[in-house]
Amino acid sequence: MTVEAAGLLADFSKQRLDGDGLETLFATARAARLDDARSLLFAGAVMNPTENRPALHMALRRGGGGGDVADQVEVERKRIRLLASRLRSGELRGFSGQPLKHLVCIGIGGSDLGPRLVCDALAPPRSAVDRERFDVRFVANVDPCDLHLALADLDPASTGFVVVSKTFTTRETLANAQAARRWLGAAGAGNEAGARHLIGVTANADAAVAYGIRADQILRFWDWVGGRYSLWSAVGISIAVACGPDAFDTLLEGAATMDRHFQEAPLEQNLPVWLGLMSIWNRNGLGCTSQAVIPYAERLRLLPAFLQQLVMESNGKSALLDGSRTSQPTAPVIWGVSGTNAQHSFFQQLHQGPDVVPVDFIIAREPELKPASDDPRHDILLANCLAQSAALALGKPPPDQAAGEDWHKAFPGNRPSTVILLPRIDAASLGALLAAYEHATFVASVVLGINAFDQFGVEYGKVMATSIEAVLGGKPDEGIDASTRALIRHIRQPGRLR
Ligand code: F6P
Repeated sequence: MTVEAAGLLADFSKQRLDGDGLETLFATARAARLDDARSLLFAGAVMNPTENRPALHMALRRGGGGGDVADQVEVERKRIRLLASRLRSGELRGFSGQPLKHLVCIGIGGSDLGPRLVCDALAPPRSAVDRERFDVRFVANVDPCDLHLALADLDPASTGFVVVSKTFTTRETLANAQAARRWLGAAGAGNEAGARHLIGVTANADAAVAYGIRADQILRFWDWVGGRYSLWSAVGISIAVACGPDAFDTLLEGAATMDRHFQEAPLEQNLPVWLGLMSIWNRNGLGCTSQAVIPYAERLRLLPAFLQQLVMESNGKSALLDGSRTSQPTAPVIWGVSGTNAQHSFFQQLHQGPDVVPVDFIIAREPELKPASDDPRHDILLANCLAQSAALALGKPPPDQAAGEDWHKAFPGNRPSTVILLPRIDAASLGALLAAYEHATFVASVVLGINAFDQFGVEYGKVMATSIEAVLGGKPDEGIDASTRALIRHIRQPGRLR
């Protein structure tokens, strides 16, 4: 029940299935022709039929697939390296001639979560000694406070912005970028000089140019990279800047090692296959509606948020590949925060609540910081992670009611979890971990018979927001439902609901 790949070890022995269950699970995968689907993915076939696109994110990390695109990937990779090096060395200067020292990355969803997670996991802290080191920040929310807080202590003369948007049409991102331009303008940067501060990352370069970003400051990626699979592309420029181009390359290599394992290892020894099939077992076999992800590593505290988009935007669907409606559950709800903090909030319910929530525990064997000989904290971290996983699985014998024991202190046990062990939190291991989850998501989609690479579910709300924004701006509220209309009126004139 233990599988190793790319330096990672995943222990599935605390999952709730026996040999027969395991056989059924792999038989299900074979019946869904997982082998063929995997080959088609790596052969660059159209895996996203509703948008008529292949899914070639592995090509971004030389992990296989997409022979045709290798050259353009290489060209862009060199441009990422060059731009990151120029920023880090202070060669890029702003409107007043000062070197840019801060980079504010504006993007949302897949244009934010991946790079934000990786930078949080790998960027060295800005210590007093290297205060001059390049500083990278992220802004996603259209709530003006997000940008305001990010800019509060920055000097416009030394601040650059990366506007990251695959489509270059996302309302929130463009509105934040516009606010950033106003901020630069207010400090004296006219349009042309202000453009020195702007870098674009997009699959729609024409729109970025029309928006006012200089063509030589646009990094490109392509339609065949899904937003939530895009951190390996130019979307990861922030990683190359914050952690260094070499660390970005190592991240890609770690992911590529996992790609090769996923592509080549037999299903029964394949880590992403196990991971994907366990989620099917827990969701569709045991009926668990949610799945917690608890990294026992503060550096991975953003992993649950990243996986929420990866898993739920990929597989949170009701349509089968043929367009009919599925009759079974699809993606679980993904949630979690880092341990040990989580133990002191919701673990009560994980241990004793009536619902069973499977958990993925993630730990690193070695600490990031070499501990002093009398510092037990990394061992405390490891011990807690292993203890929680064991306590969930084993529980305690039922209360001896004859002896007056009741259910208050009962631990039913039999609660499934996987422990994923990384050698340490470094670029190679993180690349491998994220790639493993990407492929696991694909595996689950194949068994479920759904398209993991489109996301029509996010569109309808965007369309509605556009009409409501117009009403907030003064347009008549005809066609708006009564509840929303009343709320709009109350927002504009508190107390007036009709
Ligand atoms: O709204 C969801 C979504 O389309 C995601 O799939 C995507 O990652 C995000 O918006 C951002 O889109 P873009 O990169 O085009 O701005």
